[in-house]
This record gives sequence, C-alpha cells and structure tokens, in this order.
Amino acid sequence: MSELIRVDRDRLWGDLMRLATIGAYDDVPTGLRGVRRLALTDEDAQARRQVIDWMREAGLLVRIDKIGNVYGRRAGTDDSLPCVLMGSHIDTVTSGGAFDGTLGVLGGIAVVRALNDRGLSTLRPIEVGFFTEEEGVRFGVDMLGSAVTAGRLALEYAHKLTDDDGASVADELVRTGFDGQEAERRPVPFAYIECHIEQGPILAAAGVDIGVVTGVQGISWQRLTLHGAAAHAGTTPIEHRQDAGVAAAAVILELRRMCESGRFGQLRGTVGKLSIEPGSTNVVPSGATMTIDMRNPDDDAMTAAETELAAFVAELPGKYGVTGSLERMAKTFTVRFDAGVQALIAATADDLGLPYVHAMSGAGHDAQEIAAICPTAMIFVAGENGGVSHTPREYSNPTACGNGADLLANSIFRLAQRESL
Ligand code: GLV
Ligand code: MN
Ligand code: MN
Repeated sequence: MSELIRVDRDRLWGDLMRLATIGAYDDVPTGLRGVRRLALTDEDAQARRQVIDWMREAGLLVRIDKIGNVYGRRAGTDDSLPCVLMGSHIDTVTSGGAFDGTLGVLGGIAVVRALNDRGLSTLRPIEVGFFTEEEGVRFGVDMLGSAVTAGRLALEYAHKLTDDDGASVADELVRTGFDGQEAERRPVPFAYIECHIEQGPILAAAGVDIGVVTGVQGISWQRLTLHGAAAHAGTTPIEHRQDAGVAAAAVILELRRMCESGRFGQLRGTVGKLSIEPGSTNVVPSGATMTIDMRNPDDDAMTAAETELAAFVAELPGKYGVTGSLERMAKTFTVRFDAGVQALIAATADDLGLPYVHAMSGAGHDAQEIAAICPTAMIFVAGENGGVSHTPREYSNPTACGNGADLLANSIFRLAQRESL
C-alpha cells in the first residue's frame, strides 16, 4: 500500500496523558488518579483551551458553535465540498479515566499532524470536533452537543437545562467563554468517523485491538421522585410507615430482577444516582430521587421494560404508601451505522494488517447523533482490565491507541479523497 499513514504514537500518548492531568483527582476506592471534568466546568474549559491550542498548532482553523461544540478545520483542495469529520468529546463522568472521548479528539489531531508531516493534501476539507456534554452527567442529557447539531434537540431546550445547583447550559457557556456564534452545521459533513475506546470486554475476549462498530444500542434515562412521609425512626410502627427509602430499594431490586428475567432481551438497568430526604439517621425518609439508566439493543424490548417499570412504580402506594413520578431525562433509539463507512474502515484495517471484529456499542456516543445527518461509523480500541470504563481503572495501552489512530488516519484520508461514498 503506497499511502499508508502512521500517526506519531508517542506524541498522541503524551497528549492523552497531559489532558488527563486537567481535572485529575485521587480516587480513593481504586487508589488511582482519575479524571473529573464535567461539561462546562472550569476544568472542562481549561481542557478545551488546551485542545484548541493543539488544534491551532496543527494548523487548524477553529470555530465554536452556539452549543459550545468546537471544530478545527483543515482546508481541502476543493474547500467548497462537505468535510470529512472526526471527533468525540473531552468531558468526563465524575470518576473518569484518560481515554473516554479524548482518544477520538486527540487521535483526530494526531491524524492532521500526520497529514501535515507527510505534506498530504486532500480533496475534501477535514475537521476535528469535540461535542459539549456527551456524558450528560452535569445537565442530565447525554450527547447534548451532538444532538443539537443533528437537530434532534432544540438549541433553546439545551440552553435551558440546569445542573443540580441551578446553573444553566447557556450561562455556563458564557461563563467559560464557549458561547460560540456558529449556527447549525452547513453543509452537513460528507461522513463522520469517531474513534473511541470500546469500554467493554468484546475486543479483549477476541484478542484484537480494533472493533468496527455496527451501531449503538438504545438508551433510556428517567428520573424517579418518590414521596412518602417523615416519621420518628424509634416510635413509628413498621406498618404505619410511608418509607420512601424502602420504596427506592424496591425499585432498584425490581430493575435488577427485570434484567435477570431475560424477558427484555439484553436489558441493562442501573440506578447510579440516589438521594434520600431528609437524610437523618433517626427519621423515616420522606422522599427519594433516583436516576434510572436502561440500555437495550432491541427498541421494542426497551419499551416493554419501560412499561413494566412504570407499572411497578404505580403499585408503590398500595405496597409502601409511597407515590412515585417518573420523568423522562433522555432517550435514544438503537442506531445502525452506515454500511459503506464500516466497509471502508474494515478494508483499511485489512490494509494496515490490523485484525478486528464487528461489535455493537454498549455505550452511548456522539456518533449515534451525527449518524442522523451523514454517513457515520466508529472505530473501537480495546481496553485492559476487561475494557472497564467510567472508572480510573480505564486503560488502553499505547499500542492499541496508536493502532486505532492509524486506522482513523487512513480511513479519513481515503474518505477525504472521494467524490462520493
Ligand atoms: C456514555 O458514556 C454513556 O454511555 O453513558
Ligand atoms: Mn465517550
Ligand atoms: Mn463516557
């Protein structure tokens, strides 16, 4: 193969490690250094500025849109053509690692540097982007920036979302200086490829570094608010209680039972956030609030699971004297990626001599949103420790990261030379 491009792996690794120092914290449960860089916090803003510096050093022309998504552009020989886009996100969960999202962004910059170093121009412009609030941890809606770009969520709706302290997306964009002026993406990209760590065990089990991603399973996020009644812990007979804490525990166990029942396909349910009011040792809880995260590759099975859970919540008054109301936070349906882009990535992996498997994504990604506006697919990179992620134990080794970035580079280069897919 004449035009195989190799990224500078050492530099990419150095960038990943450098970015991980922004928002770094000592994670007591693991004894490791983690990353906590929630969207539009000071830490996120600092990381954004660092990545923009790297984009500019690589010669990219940077612009920011109204939801704070950042794009760096390398001109094509016909700059009027729609660009080939790569990217991901740089915000993290509260207990994040160094690789989730960042590999696709810093890998994208590594691709541009490799093209620059080789003096390679492309027919189409190439862009590297990172999207605001992919994790949804701070403002409660995942893939927020890319969903606005794709037109699934309105900009006004996104701007009004607030965090637990009442700060809005719009205000935080202004405060951090990322309230860009670019409106919608016009024209839409020719194609999008996101390189991302797998965050699961499939690749490691297959003994390969690379996955060609077939799509992303559906995601349902709901908030459940439970209302009981406060009472004295020592004097109130059990049968007289309206204990919101007990009701919360029942819901958590019901969700687990539903997953284990096998009646909802490959349902995965998680209650990751739970608070109990008033929060005193000697007071029966009067209220509880929890998030409910459900994942399912089968949209019908997901709907059935949502219906069954709602029915269980409706029975709480009779069982525990506690009322519950479910509120939708976010919902995405299963997305299948473009067959042509998948085939191009697979053929490019063959040319690079990189073994791969096809895999469906268990995690949510910006690519599932961008897939609505242009042909899209993803490259997965294997992780160690069983591919664990959303914990500082998340780790993909330098070889795997370098292989993923090489595959990204050559896939993007090929797409950027094409008149049509
Ligand atoms: C994103 O990381 C998600 O799948 O929640
Ligand atoms: Mn991610
Ligand atoms: Mn994540």
